[in-house]
Amino acid sequence: MRDIFDAIQTSAKRIKDAIDVKDIGYSQQENSSGETQLELDIKCDMIIEEEFSKVASIHTIASEEKQHAELLHEDGKYFIAYDPLDGSSLVDVNLSVGSIFGIYENDFGTKNMVAACYVVYGPRVEMVFAQNKAKLYLLQAGDFEFVKEIRLTEKGKLMAPGGTQQNWEKYHKEMIDGFFAEGYRLRYSGGMVPDLHQILLKGGGLFSYPATSDKPEGKLRRLFEVFPFAFIYKIAGGEAINGSDDLMTLGHGHIHDTSPCFFGSKYEVKRVKEVYAKNA
Ligand code: F6P
Ligand code: MN
Repeated sequence: MRDIFDAIQTSAKRIKDAIDVKDIGYSQQENSSGETQLELDIKCDMIIEEEFSKVASIHTIASEEKQHAELLHEDGKYFIAYDPLDGSSLVDVNLSVGSIFGIYENDFGTKNMVAACYVVYGPRVEMVFAQNKAKLYLLQAGDFEFVKEIRLTEKGKLMAPGGTQQNWEKYHKEMIDGFFAEGYRLRYSGGMVPDLHQILLKGGGLFSYPATSDKPEGKLRRLFEVFPFAFIYKIAGGEAINGSDDLMTLGHGHIHDTSPCFFGSKYEVKRVKEVYAKNA
């Protein structure tokens, strides 16, 4: 696992340099989820593939930017699913973006997940790596330094409600309105990594990306986005559900499958469960 941790750190430093250029280049291609790929997306994907190729313990990788999983080392035991540059359409407006990694033993699948990690490229580059604990690291003078362990409180103050509001279910809208009526404050940048990072570091709240009339299976991808954050939130003392079930009990069919998702502290997620049990 140490060599994977090191490879992620090296990738993160190289990705930071790739972001810090004038021309991030729109390509003509679309990824498997139908989003326009930036040359930057492809470049970040290549950086991670290059670094992971050097790690003999990695068996197979799957990337949000690739159609199929790829075998790296027949004798390796780890399977890693990653989103090389989540929120990449926010780079040109200089908002924070991130990389997300889910690490599995022997095969992909929530039961096999052994660690998860994300990197935030913001005013500072930070990394959260979760195995038995969720630990925060800061990139300083070329090295990632341990900062602290992250723990969520029971109840937070922040609300990050994703999805097109006109396509929300009525009960979902009433639930979100209810949280705001209780004093929650809106924090939504449109980048999953910084939005979830903010809730984790500011003690709690709720990030939601529900099923909507136009996206009945939600938007966010199970392997590349949803499962890694579910793992991290649960290790940090929070909850992660799809409305009714723990996200870490879900399967996946295709590697690019999506799921509705709710991540937060215990108080808010309990409310989501109650509302969805009554209505969905
Ligand atoms: O990768 C998908 C993503 O960009 C996430 O980073 C983010 O949380 C979400 O989409 C935002 O979606 P929307 O623009 O629909 O709110
Ligand atoms: Mn993404």
